[in-house]
Amino acid sequence: MSTTSNTSPPPLEGGGRGEGSHQHEPRELAPSPRPSPSRRERAVGSSRDHATLSAVEGPSAWKGSEIDYRQEGLHTLSTAEIEEIDAALHAVGTPDIPGITRETFKLPTLGTSLRRMGEDLRTGRGFLLLRGLKRERYTTDEMARIYVGLGAHIGTLLPQSWHGELLGNVIDVSDVEAAARGYQSGGSQRFHTDTCDIVSLMCVQSAKSGGLSRIASVGALHNRLLETRPDLLAQLYGDYVCRRMELDAELGSGRLLKTLAFFSQATGQLSCNISGSYPRRAVDAGDAVMTDLQVEALDELERLAASPEFYLDMSIGEGDIQFLNNRTLLHGRTGYEDWPEIARRRHLLRLWIEVPSWPALPANQGMHGPDDHAGWLRQRTPFMEVPSCYVATMTARKAALAA
Ligand SMILES: [Fe+2]
Repeated sequence: MSTTSNTSPPPLEGGGRGEGSHQHEPRELAPSPRPSPSRRERAVGSSRDHATLSAVEGPSAWKGSEIDYRQEGLHTLSTAEIEEIDAALHAVGTPDIPGITRETFKLPTLGTSLRRMGEDLRTGRGFLLLRGLKRERYTTDEMARIYVGLGAHIGTLLPQSWHGELLGNVIDVSDVEAAARGYQSGGSQRFHTDTCDIVSLMCVQSAKSGGLSRIASVGALHNRLLETRPDLLAQLYGDYVCRRMELDAELGSGRLLKTLAFFSQATGQLSCNISGSYPRRAVDAGDAVMTDLQVEALDELERLAASPEFYLDMSIGEGDIQFLNNRTLLHGRTGYEDWPEIARRRHLLRLWIEVPSWPALPANQGMHGPDDHAGWLRQRTPFMEVPSCYVATMTARKAALAA
């Protein structure tokens, strides 16, 4: 067993470039405090015997080079569905985000379809693009209320970081946030997963250019590794010690370190929950070591996912909503060119959705859990995620910094 160091290859989703708030560090990490010996955990190399591994079959294992999402994962809202949304938007009024629920945002017909679409994400390709909302018909805050209302019909909305936000604002505010996390930064994002059943994005404002969503099937990557490097695949079923973001832990469960398996089939279906940055944070802080094989497994998975054979690019235009199965897909994005003013910048909204009908996530997966959520939600302040409030706050902060 060898010890990795700060000179190791970059993490799977790229330092500070990933989108999931829980998955990604600030661009420049503050020096991590050295752990006390009693807090140290070690990767114990309990990888699965690769002789017991078998290929993932079914529609979740696809190659991006062989499918067209417009044929297999695009739903264009009908006129009747738009009318139902408009009626719900009118009826719900202007509550705070938690006040938008299945009960307050009534969708008698579309709601049933959305629940079915959510289940299809578990059993099918794992992606869905909902198109048809005409962006110019709604204010940005109305778009947000529609989005939360639609999401509430698919499942339960989860807080996304220690801030307790139920609706994430994905926008580059790295010039005003001292410790901007991945979803608050611009540029490309490398492949990763978040911590939820379904991760979703709505685009309310496009970039000047670029910024495609890039996804890859974990099942297809799994099968390629099984063919070419089963020894590396076995590592991904084993233990990786992960160091979470300090405030996520402090204001949540209090648990800074977690030992996780990035791949599991405990639910009967391949389930992936992976972030390359967290095990590297653990190594850098002296909490753990990674074997050479563990490092190589992360690198090889990323290398394969980044090849045109495997990834699929999806354009999320203004008004579009993307839903992804966070257990069976990796996601990232291509780079983009943005506008200088915060109010004009590329702006997406994000939901983390838990689907109660899905099997529970294996106990050794999930960077965060219910024991974090209650503490995180205590940090939340009313209306803080409403886009107009968020952008106003960030714009004021930028002005104050310039003064
Ligand atoms: Fe993400």
